[in-house]
Amino acid sequence: MIEHRNQQKSGNSVWKNLRRRDFVAGSLAAGAGLAAGATAWNAWSQVTPTPTIPIECVPPVPMGQASAFAPAVGPVRIRKSVFELDAGEVSRLKAAYAELLKITKKNDPRGWYRQGAVHCWYCSGAADSLTGMEIHGGWWFLAWHRAYLYFHERILGALIGDPTFALPYWDWDSCNDDPNDMTGRNRFPGEVYGFPQDNPSNPLFDSTRAVGPNDRIPTVHVGPTRMKVVLGSKSFTDFGGSGNEELPVVGQSGSDPQQMGQLEADPHGFVHLWTTDPKGLSGLADMGMLAAAGFDPVFFAHHANIDRLWSVWAGRAGHANPSNDRWLNQQPFFFYDQAQVWIGILANQVIDAETSLSYRYQPPHWPPTAAAAVAEAGNPRATIRVAQAAPLSAPLVALDTGADQKTLSPQPTTLQIAVPQEAKQRITALTAAANPATLVLRIDGVEIPADRGAVVQVFVNRPDVTAPARGPEPGYVGSIVIVPSTSARTLGLHPTITRNFGFSLPPEQAAALSGKDNLSVTLVPVTGANKPPEVLRYRRVYLASR
Ligand code: C2O
Repeated sequence: MIEHRNQQKSGNSVWKNLRRRDFVAGSLAAGAGLAAGATAWNAWSQVTPTPTIPIECVPPVPMGQASAFAPAVGPVRIRKSVFELDAGEVSRLKAAYAELLKITKKNDPRGWYRQGAVHCWYCSGAADSLTGMEIHGGWWFLAWHRAYLYFHERILGALIGDPTFALPYWDWDSCNDDPNDMTGRNRFPGEVYGFPQDNPSNPLFDSTRAVGPNDRIPTVHVGPTRMKVVLGSKSFTDFGGSGNEELPVVGQSGSDPQQMGQLEADPHGFVHLWTTDPKGLSGLADMGMLAAAGFDPVFFAHHANIDRLWSVWAGRAGHANPSNDRWLNQQPFFFYDQAQVWIGILANQVIDAETSLSYRYQPPHWPPTAAAAVAEAGNPRATIRVAQAAPLSAPLVALDTGADQKTLSPQPTTLQIAVPQEAKQRITALTAAANPATLVLRIDGVEIPADRGAVVQVFVNRPDVTAPARGPEPGYVGSIVIVPSTSARTLGLHPTITRNFGFSLPPEQAAALSGKDNLSVTLVPVTGANKPPEVLRYRRVYLASR
């Protein structure tokens, strides 16, 4: 048995005066066709006339002792691209979510509402900032979401009595680099999940999405050039995030903030914001806000793709998950399973997905003409490799030493420095070595407000860039992407947190810095048509190696 340290907090008066709608705006107002969901909510609001908000953003009672996870039994479930489901698989998916919506009993953790609230509970400490843990912005991100999807998938399968039921994945990365190409999958899978103008009787529908059939995710964030960089990160820290999460609150010191991995920031966060606001990227509707994202069924297809990309990354030679015991064995995540049993599961129990969780990914068949597009997606054995994360060197070149906190202006900002002679030699030596080190551009101490989204593109030695890129651009190294936690602007209950960002430079980009006299970093906020420009704070900007 695993001791559960959290206490359920219910009826916290601070939340009483808020409308639940602030958190799941529109999900339940999807029209008559979503009668099952609406009924669910009506029933709950009768039971709980003054709900805590987000209502039950904590597990339903009873909690207490959790059972330890035991490896899955049953057939290996095959997760396929949402664009490759046959008609029968689409109806099966819809039938499963329709059953989820029908569960209206308040304390039944299998229902749609409770399932969505699980994500809220693990986001910025849940409703009261006290009971939950924050699994975003660091090394828990991939393992926690893998476990969440596992339980969600098995609940859905059990509801329709199908032990082979599998979640689909939304492979937005199956596309060309050309941002004007319309043939890729960097679009919303509306033919399955429904577009805003469609009939909301589809149980996969969510009225807070704003993407239409002609919208395309800018390929700078999801195209082959970007994915090559993300999947080429040699260190789990740069790819999937780091630990040191104990002191995430601004103003505390003594510990380095967690690093958000590149997969989590850009593409993952970008796709969240894009789904609810493709032009403005403001977030603050279901997919665009962590507290409510789990209420949109497409969340699970988006995260299945993130999970698939983790398997792809981990299957590559030289890549390894953290061997740190705290990551592997010391932090259980808690979920209810399909039998409503409260389970504690560890990262160590999810890293070998096929053996332990009994599912695998069928690689996408894209482009349609390519023979076996990606042979690497299904190598689950390799994912059990673990290793000590490679440490970061002391700064080679400091562009901003971080004595004070800086505010990033809404206009593009360039930080520039003459590279000291010694650093120049060091960079040349590091990049020319037979086994070259990875150069990492770090932007540390980024202060993340709980209630606003942000996208800031980062370029190295491109002081001429004055507007956000849509397609691949030389010098682009990635983006700072922030999905807001909640829309509770006035409450101040969700703490502002601080994260480090690390952009590992691909070998060509690192080599291009060799012998250069100047180093510049240009930060380009991506502002939308219908929102004010973002202002973010940060501390240090520097180049280091690992
Ligand atoms: Cu828990 Cu995509 O966020």
